[in-house]
Amino acid sequence: MEKNMEKKAELKLNGKVYEFPTFIGTKGEKAIDFSSLRKKTSYISYDPGFGSTGSCKSDITFINGEKGILSFRGISIEELAEHSSFLETAYLLIKGELPAEKELKRISSVCTENSLIHEDMLNFFGGFPPTAHPMLILSAMVASLNSYYCSLGQVELGSVEMDNVMFGVISKIRTISAFSYKKALGEPFVYPSGDRKYITNFLHMMFSSPIREYEPDPDIVRALEVLFIMHADHEQNCSTSTVRLVGSSLSNLFASIAAGINALWGRLHGGANQKVIEMLEMIKNDGGNTQKYIDMAKDKNNKFRLMGFGHRVYKNYDPRARIIKNLAHKILNRFSIDDPLMDIALELEEKALKDSYFKEKKLFPNVDFYSGLIYREIGFPTDMFPVLFAIARLPGWIAQWKEMRESSEFRIGRPRQIYTGRTSYHYKPLNKR
Ligand code: CMC
Repeated sequence: MEKNMEKKAELKLNGKVYEFPTFIGTKGEKAIDFSSLRKKTSYISYDPGFGSTGSCKSDITFINGEKGILSFRGISIEELAEHSSFLETAYLLIKGELPAEKELKRISSVCTENSLIHEDMLNFFGGFPPTAHPMLILSAMVASLNSYYCSLGQVELGSVEMDNVMFGVISKIRTISAFSYKKALGEPFVYPSGDRKYITNFLHMMFSSPIREYEPDPDIVRALEVLFIMHADHEQNCSTSTVRLVGSSLSNLFASIAAGINALWGRLHGGANQKVIEMLEMIKNDGGNTQKYIDMAKDKNNKFRLMGFGHRVYKNYDPRARIIKNLAHKILNRFSIDDPLMDIALELEEKALKDSYFKEKKLFPNVDFYSGLIYREIGFPTDMFPVLFAIARLPGWIAQWKEMRESSEFRIGRPRQIYTGRTSYHYKPLNKR
């Protein structure tokens, strides 16, 4: 990172000029360092939704929202989609480098060794009603990991043991997710196998049963791998900021991740992939009139939004959506599937991109618009879609949590507020109110 020593930002307040340092990131992103604003001026900055606020410096992920560019540790998402595996991408995010073959093997065996969860934890699944959303089960189970593996919460950052914790939880989350699906089906859990790779093992735990071995098609395995890579990190989004904020109180990694899962669940964030499919189904059942739904999304008096459209940072086509759209075409063609929801999605996109409302507001399909169409074809039920997002986002959360803890600028996260409530109010006993 480059310090911009020449330029200082000046702020004029009540006739007095205050100076603040500015700096520029390695890809040209400019910032004013307002960390001393309150001390110098007694004012705070006000930015609901944090649209203009940088909460940290980070070496992990770069997004250029205007140009539609995304890279992890400097490698473009397109390159990773073409050549990498999910585990290799996870290593890249967390450790900062591509792993040598020996390292990748080591991490892979850490995943295998940590793929089981304590047998007593299986009882927890029985405590949830069959209707419990798998995201709820996932967050509760991940938080509970600390009670079974509490010594892991004390492991020192930078140690080899910490690798076991970080890659161990990447393995365990997959087992918990598959078990929550089996629990909802009422089928016996399928244990991970030691000789299957990350994605194949997950599909095995999801779709094999005591009476049938699931042998996934290699194109399906690769499609899921690419989808996981696409979701692996996305800098300071809502769930990642949550993981950092919770972790900044020195909460353990499992607690921070559980909080991230809950933040991700909402339909404006990782829950959108489920909502896109529900929206496409609704349009189909309503006769397929896409224009009606575009008009509803534009109507200020209607709360309906086009799910899978729009993004805080991207003001251009989301590069992940482009890759996923092509992948969806590939999977549908490969298996000769004629999915009416794909036709509706394509028509919605075409109409929206020509519409002045979407053009002016720079609203494009995001990562969630086409991903659900592939998940559906693989056989995942819609309520598992946000869970798939969580499994895939975990390496990013861990990398960001680790970076925050290791940062020389580490401080507990604690935003300020502007109080707008009553200036005074006096207590009255109950019988006088
Ligand atoms: N349909 C219709 N109008 C929209 C949409 C949409 N999907 N998204 C934004 N707008 C409008 C919004 O009403 C606002 O209009 P105005 O300026 O007239 O008030 C304008 O565009 C700017 O929107 P915003 O809500 O201020 O934008 P934001 O940055 O606060 O929100 C968003 C971003 C993703 C929450 C929002 O675009 C949205 O609700 N999209 C649908 C949900 C969705 O697909 N979420 C997944 C996001 S990508 C995966 C992830 O990383 O989470």
